[in-house]
Amino acid sequence: MSDMPVTFTLNGQPRRLDVDPDTPLLWAIRDHLGLTGTKFGCGIGECGSCTVHVNGKAERSCSTPLQAVEGATITTIEGLATGGVLSAVQQAWLDQQVPQCGYCQSGMIMAVSALLAERPHATDAEVDAAITNICRCGTLARVRKAIRGLAAVTEGGA
Ligand code: FES
Ligand code: FES
Repeated sequence: MSDMPVTFTLNGQPRRLDVDPDTPLLWAIRDHLGLTGTKFGCGIGECGSCTVHVNGKAERSCSTPLQAVEGATITTIEGLATGGVLSAVQQAWLDQQVPQCGYCQSGMIMAVSALLAERPHATDAEVDAAITNICRCGTLARVRKAIRGLAAVTEGGA
């Protein structure tokens, strides 16, 4: 147990966890808070399947100790839709039928959402630099197509 509980906001709700502060955020989210949309892949910060937003930035939760998110605002894939309406990125994923097995896709969507929030018209080079998530099903071409579609919608003012 920790000396001090760790407190943070998760998908808009205040949370307080009294567990080992070195616990990876991924396991805090999945095992202690029951949100299993965030996936375990490599566990060493390489694959990106565990990506969540910490204060709006994409972070790999397997490599983020719980104590590092004290006071932070965290969003997981479960918190991306608002009022039952999918985010633009989620909708684009459906429209373009991006996922195959789907295992990597929550992390992929979180990484892309953070990128486009910061750079709505990200170039292919910026996408390649920012989206280092691994997809074993080979969906990256459709990921890029979906991102291009989102940029076009933004440019058109929709
Ligand atoms: S499980 Fe976190 S980067 Fe692979
Ligand atoms: S959709 Fe299967 S690993 Fe990416």
